[in-house]
Formats: sequence, C-alpha cells, structure tokens
Amino acid sequence: MTTQWFHITDSERQRELVEDAAEILRRGGLLAIPTETVYGLGADGLNEEAVRHIFEAKGRPQDNPLILHIPDASWLERYCMDVPNEAYRLAERFWPGPLTMILKKRDIVPLRTTGGLDTVGMRCPDHAVTRAIIARAGVPVAAPSANTSGRPSCTTAAHVHEDMDGKIDGIVDGGDCRVGVESTIIDLTVTPPRLLRPGGLPLEELREVLGEVAVDQAVTRQMGENEKPRAPGMKYRHYAPKAPVTVVTGTPGQSARYLLSHAGEQAGVIVFDEFAQMFPTQVVHALGGKDDKSAQAHHVFDALRAFDHTNVTEIWAQCPDSKGLGLAIGNRLKKAAGFHVADARDGKTVIGFTGGTGAGKTSALLALQEMGAYIVDCDAVYHEMLAQDGAMRREIAETFGDVFTPDGALDRQKLGERVFADAQQLARLDRIVRAHVPRETVRRAMASGADLIGVDAIKLMESGLGALCDATVAVLAPEETRVHRIMTRDGISEEYARARVRAQQDEAFFRAHCSHVFVNDYQSLDEAQAAAGAFLKEIIKQLKEDKQHV
Ligand code: TXA
Ligand code: MG
Repeated sequence: MTTQWFHITDSERQRELVEDAAEILRRGGLLAIPTETVYGLGADGLNEEAVRHIFEAKGRPQDNPLILHIPDASWLERYCMDVPNEAYRLAERFWPGPLTMILKKRDIVPLRTTGGLDTVGMRCPDHAVTRAIIARAGVPVAAPSANTSGRPSCTTAAHVHEDMDGKIDGIVDGGDCRVGVESTIIDLTVTPPRLLRPGGLPLEELREVLGEVAVDQAVTRQMGENEKPRAPGMKYRHYAPKAPVTVVTGTPGQSARYLLSHAGEQAGVIVFDEFAQMFPTQVVHALGGKDDKSAQAHHVFDALRAFDHTNVTEIWAQCPDSKGLGLAIGNRLKKAAGFHVADARDGKTVIGFTGGTGAGKTSALLALQEMGAYIVDCDAVYHEMLAQDGAMRREIAETFGDVFTPDGALDRQKLGERVFADAQQLARLDRIVRAHVPRETVRRAMASGADLIGVDAIKLMESGLGALCDATVAVLAPEETRVHRIMTRDGISEEYARARVRAQQDEAFFRAHCSHVFVNDYQSLDEAQAAAGAFLKEIIKQLKEDKQHV
C-alpha cells in the first residue's frame, strides 16, 4: 500500500486535507495523526475490522486496549456511561490536552477496541487539525501511539514514516509534537481515582481538581510475570536498546558525578545539557536543560532512539526528580531500563567557590576546610593535567599545533597568545578543558573519601563545574575593597589593580549564575572566616533538608 502524506501548511488547502483525511477514517482506513503528545495511529474505533488493522500494523498484543479520541467532552455520553462529575470538571480544565480518562464503556464500543475490558480510555487531543478531522469523520478515533510495538513513541512524522510506511493509508504531518510524552491516564472508575500512567499532565494538577489520587504500582516498579497492571500497556517494555540501560536518580549534580565516575569510555549517556560536553569518548544524547522538564519530555524518546545505530555497550541516563513532568520522563526512562535504577545520592555535599581577584574567596575556602572539607583546587588540577594528562595534551596538540616544547612541557605563553587573540580558539580550549577537568575534579573529590567537598575554580560557572556542585558560592566584595586588597597583597599600582579587577566578570555575572553570594567586605581575615563559616553552615543545613525530598 502507498502511504499518502498530508502536509499541514497552508490554510487554503486545509479544508480539503481535513476532508480527505476524514474520508480515510470513514472508510475504515488507517491514518497517523499528530497530537500534542505523540503521533497516534488512528482508525474508526467503532469499526472492528479497522481496529484489527491497527493491532496488525503495530504488531500490538490484542489484550492491550486502545483509547478513543474525540473532538470535545460532549461526545463522552455517546460512548461512556455513568460518567462522573469529575470527568466533566477535568475536561473543563484540561481538555483539549494530554489527559486520558478511563470510564465505563457503552455496548457500542467493541470489546476489540478495549482489549476485552468494560472500560474505555477517552481523550481530547490538543491539536486543532486532528480534532477537525475527527469531527468531520464523525466517529471516535481509536489511536495508540504510532510506533511499532516495542519501539519508542513517535514525536515526528518522520518517525512514523520509519515505522509505518507502506502499512497505513496516510500520515498527517503536523510537525514536532509539543509535549513529547504520551497523555496522563487517570482511572475514574475506582475510588480514589488512580493514576495508571504519568504523562504530559502533571499529577500535581490532577490532585488540584480531584484531591486524593492513588498511583498505580506499575508507574514506579517493574511488574512481575504474573501481575496484571490496570493499564495493560504498562507491563510491556517500551523500548529495549541492545545495551543494558541504567537510570541514575538523585539531584542533577549527584547523578552527573555518578556518571562521570561510572560510565565506561564506550558507553552511551543521556545527560542534561549542562553535562553534555563532559563525556568526550562516550556517545552523548542531551536530554534538555537540568531545570527544563518540558525540553526533557520533548527529547526523551529521541534520546532512546538515538542509540539504535551505535555500538555502545552500556547506556546511562540521568533522571529528573519526579515533580511535574519529571514523573513521566523518569517513568519512560525506567521502563526502557527495565526499572534498573542506580541511586546516586552519596551523602556528600559539594560546594563550588568562585569570585574575582581580591574578593576574598580564600577566607571562605578556609572556613569550609575548618569544617573538615577536602578542597579541590581546579586551577592546580588544570595545570597538572596540562603537564601530565595524555588525552588532554593530545587534544591540545591536535587543535593548537606546536604549543609543546621539545621536552614535552607546555609552552604556556605560546598557547596563551593563540587563544587570547581569538575568541574561537579560546572556545576550543574551553571545550577541551570541559571535557577533562570536571571528570578529574570529581575523581579527586570522590577519592578523598571526604563527605564535605569544596571546589575552588575561578571559572566555576564557565567551565561547567558549577553544575556538578550542590551549591555554588560567589564571593564578592566592592571594587574599592578589592583594589585596595590586591595593591597591598601584590604590591602593584592602583591603576594596574583596577585594570585587573575590571578585566574580570562583573558582579552581575556572579549574581546571575551562582546559587549563593557571600559578600566579603570584612576588615580582618579572622572576621571574614568566621562570617563565612556561619554562612556555609546555613547552606549545608539547607542542602541536607532539600536532599531528603529528592
Ligand atoms: O498521548 C497518548 O495517549 C497517545 C496519543 C496518540 O493520544 N496515545 C497512546 O496510546 O499513548 P497507547 O495505546 O500507546 O497507550 C495507551 C495506554 C496503554 O498502556 C493501554 O494499556 C492503556 O492506555 N489503556 C487503554 N485503555 C485502557 C483501559 N480501558 N483501562 C486501562 N488502561 C487502558
Ligand atoms: Mg504506546
């Protein structure tokens, strides 16, 4: 069969597109439709023959029920009975949107559609063209995700094409799916309502409307051979890459530290954007910013497909916390991993320190050391690596040419001349540093055995090291104080001292990028250290409290 391609672009031809696509559904054909979550593989949900074809095209087990897509809540009564008031309250607030409600079905809905169940999942997708097609067809559209069974859900028409070309009548190309993970499924036939699958609508929002919501066990753990999850689909492994997958939980800093110490050189890693450059030999797939769960949801299936054509021997994935969309993202990753999870919470507290010259960073570091901390001096790590680290030296030589002297020492002046004259060259050097220094910093911190660790780095935030820390402290002082301090410390002129201060990042940069600011305007070192000690104790106390919620 040739698969017809419908491209949603110009509004002129939209009516025609809707008409032709609806006609495919009316005559019992298969049509891939875009929704805000993932692409669906649609057919007339009341037509048993058409529904049978969906199962065939996907290779889907017959006991795995389909959900019905409708254009608005007024259609609920046609296919469901005893519809509770909550269903309408949810519809009013969240439809069209990524929410599927399980309700009692009427006889008109074939058992073939519901996998033999007397309930049916109902959903109103947030995609205007798809709703127009369904309304025009005049039938509820049964649509599972448009992937081949066992593959990740499709979030672009190209993915659908990959899995379904030649097997279905048409694909409506609506571009990228906005949400990227499937709808949240709530069972309203039980009390209290039960979350069967976390998805594009956060559990917290459901609770705002429903009050108590139970969470089905299949959401958080692997179902045993003989167990029957309430959403039959939750028992199937979503995607099984050839290499074993381990999902790493904990704060982003903890899981990144864990990956840096555990992922092998040939591994595949799924990491938040902030850490993507720290894995130079691994196959990396960036999931999205560590605090940007909608980006992570958007990329999670892509990330899982990304290793299809690679030879990675193991896959590691950083997992977001379970708030908001995090529950759904973590669930999809864990399902791909067969719920193989490593907990990266290590009981360690890692605090990064930065600040310009003369700001008094040393007092803060001494205060932390007094509390028993191990301090990693990243500037020293960097220079030692320049002298000794084979891989880093090789990359520098490949990028910058003859910056090593015949006896193998780095000619720092030569390297300096190359990079400081040219922003592009400097960016290249930064990239090399980022690929090596964080890993070595973490290695040293972990090898120390200390539970409290200070990371001292002038370029803490620029080098990516800050993202590995549980807190980042910028030590700041007024310009006059700094100028005065470095004049006395280094015996230099006021003009030169001022120029040095001004050449560095300004206060606004540190305030914008660091989690904490310590203003060190104290006259004596003792005073500064005492104040820093009290300040750091408070941070450590807060971190200990927060971590319990991860
Ligand atoms: O976002 C979505 O929900 C996408 C788009 C296309 O709408 N659809 C989707 O369908 O993810 P599917 O078939 O891939 O997943 C539906 C899940 C399955 O796990 C299935 O077992 C469960 O819903 N389900 C369907 N009907 C059910 C019912 N009556 N009772 C319990 N679970 C049901
Ligand atoms: Mg599916």
